[in-house]
Formats: sequence, C-alpha cells, structure tokens
Amino acid sequence: MSIFINKQDSFGLDISDLSLKVANIEKRGKQFEFTSFGCLAIPKGVIKDGQIQDEGRLVKAIHELLANVHGKQIKTKNVVCCLPEEKSFLDILQLPVLDPEETAQAVIFEAANHIPIPLEDVYFDFELIQPLIKNPKQQDILIAATPKKIVDGYFNALKKAGLRTQALEVEPLAIVRALVKLNVATKPLLIIDFGACRTSFIIFSGHNVTFSSTIPVSSNELTRVIAEKLNIKPKEAEDLKKSEGLEGDKKVFNAMTPVLTDLTQQIKNHLDYYKSHIPSSQGLNNLDNKVDRILLCGGGANLKGLANFLTSTFKIKVVLSNPLTNLKKTNLKTTPILDKEKSLCYATALGLALRGAQL
Ligand SMILES: Nc1ncnc2c1ncn2[C@@H]1O[C@H](COP(=O)(O)OP(=O)(O)OP(=O)(O)O)[C@@H](O)[C@H]1O
Ligand SMILES: [Mg+2]
Repeated sequence: MSIFINKQDSFGLDISDLSLKVANIEKRGKQFEFTSFGCLAIPKGVIKDGQIQDEGRLVKAIHELLANVHGKQIKTKNVVCCLPEEKSFLDILQLPVLDPEETAQAVIFEAANHIPIPLEDVYFDFELIQPLIKNPKQQDILIAATPKKIVDGYFNALKKAGLRTQALEVEPLAIVRALVKLNVATKPLLIIDFGACRTSFIIFSGHNVTFSSTIPVSSNELTRVIAEKLNIKPKEAEDLKKSEGLEGDKKVFNAMTPVLTDLTQQIKNHLDYYKSHIPSSQGLNNLDNKVDRILLCGGGANLKGLANFLTSTFKIKVVLSNPLTNLKKTNLKTTPILDKEKSLCYATALGLALRGAQL
C-alpha cells in the first residue's frame, strides 16, 4: 500500500530527522539479494519531526549519500522513500463484507471519521487485511493517509535531487516487510523501532500491520540524560551509553532510569491497548490474541542488556530483529557486509528496498 506507485528498478531511502539511509536490493529469480547500503548524518533543522525544512541541504545530502554507498554503486534514479509515521495515520476499519465498489465507497465514508484532518488535504490509500481465518460477515480494512503538504514536500525534494519517486510508503509498512519472516505472524508481534529521535510501536498480526504509533522517547534522550546527570560532554555520554548499556556502570544505568521508565510504561500502555482493541476479524481466538513476541529494531535496540531487561519486565520474549531475514544469503564478492549492530538501523531502508525489488 503506497501513496504513489510506478514499476521499475529502485532503491530504498529512509529519511529521518538526523540521518539518511539508503539500501539497494536486486531480484535474482525468486530471491532477493542485498547489493548496497549507506548512511549519512544530517544536521539538525534540515528535517524536523518528519517535515522537510531545508530542501536545498536535503538535496545535497542525498547526492553525497548516493556517491558514497558500500557495495555496488546505485545506478538507478528510481527511489522508494518512507513517509514519517508521526505525520501519517494508519488505522483499521471494520466493515461488513461488501462488493469491491461498495467497500471503496464505505471506506471513504468511514475514513472521514478516523482521520483527524479533512480527506481533501491528505493522500489516502486502503487495503483489505488478509485474516488468518476468514470471517464471512466482517472485513477489516487498513487505511493509510499522509497530509498532502508532507507528501508533496518529499516528492519535490526527491525530484530536485534528480530522482524519480516509485513509491512513498508510511514507515511501519516498510519496517515489517524487512523484519517479519515471510511477512506472516500466526501470533501478534510488537515491533519497537528505538531510534535516535523517537520510538515507534507497530503491531503486526497475520499478514498485516494492525496498529502503529510514535512517541518522542528516544535513544538520543538516553545520551542527553547521561550527559546531564554525570555532568559530561554529549560525545562522552554517547560512548558510555554504548560501552556500558544496562549491564555496566551502575551510575550510567541510574542516569538512564527516567527514560527507561518512560519507555517501559509506554510499552505497557501499547500492550494493554492492543489487548482491548484487537480487530475481531483477524480470526484469532482469545489465546492467540496476546502479543507473543517483541522484536526490537533501530540503532537504540543495540543498548547492551535492553532485550533481557524488557523480557524480564514484561515476561514476553523480547529479541533483536533481523532486518535481513527475507533476503537470500550469499557469499558473492559484491555483497556488502552489514553487521548485526548496524543492520538494526537499516530496517526501514531495507524494507523500502524490498518494496522496490518487488514492484
Ligand atoms: N551500540 C549501541 N548502543 C546503544 N545505542 C546505540 C548503539 N548504536 C547506536 N545507538 C543509538 O542508535 C540511535 C540511532 O539509531 P537509528 O539509526 O535507528 O536512528 P534514526 O533512524 O536516525 O532515527 P529516528 O528513526 O528516530 O528518526 C542513536 O541514538 C545511537 O546512539
Ligand atoms: Mg529510524
């Protein structure tokens, strides 16, 4: 489900507030092969809360990023790019089973009650949720909308960078494509993207995203509180965060406690919310509707001891995800090496690249 679609070879581009990341995947027969990746930090103020503020600097940064990828040079000008979750609306409509034309009309009518800004101001798309077990009376529809102002900003910046937009996709849809093995989960999964500037929660069940939200708790916030509490420079605090994590120096752990408490409270809220709002036509019985596993991604997931800490807090298995799970394993000389730690930062870019390879 994308805002724009145009079929041709394309690479994935993840635009975040403080970084750009690129990944390229090529289709070989029925399998996908990873060929290139790259990352570039961008200064504060170029993008703010997912909204482009300085198009000129963004265009320059895109050129610099593409000129310095690891692996094979990216020759195509076609791009699949993500749209910020915090500026988008993903929701589920529950409708009676209707024919496709009636469904489309009902979706547009109902969507107006779910999207908090007028429909004429958003780009809007919808998709039937494939339930694990069909309910003959009810269908669930995933709707996605992003304000035209935001989408047009991305589209124009990419055009100025000399790129052709093949698809713009709301970030959670890209993340699940990279992380969920074969894109199916028989029991609900909670995916947590713990990034530099924010944390996103995504619930994936059956074949679809069924919920997503973003909060401002972030891994950079951990660095900020360490610097503040221990009265040290941000660079030193960042190094301590990475070297000590939750398992090292108690002073570092204690400094991070308020942010970790906030994070665990938010995870609890999301688990509780899901329990009471599970879409009924997912075909899951009461035993199967509990979140079964939590997958972590985003660079912040590398915090030493985080997965164990969350496992013991929630008594749910929490694991670091594998954003390369749906790719073919190769030992080709051209395949770039993306280690486990870095790969967690590339979930979005890889999901977008997979979308490009599947178009
Ligand atoms: N080994 C590590 N231990 C702890 N934190 C880490 C580690 N490696 C990276 N990080 C943190 O991960 C964050 C960067 O993650 P990521 O690349 O996923 O963010 P982003 O995609 O740029 O941001 P966002 O998605 O929030 O816009 C930084 O805050 C960085 O300090
Ligand atoms: Mg990110």
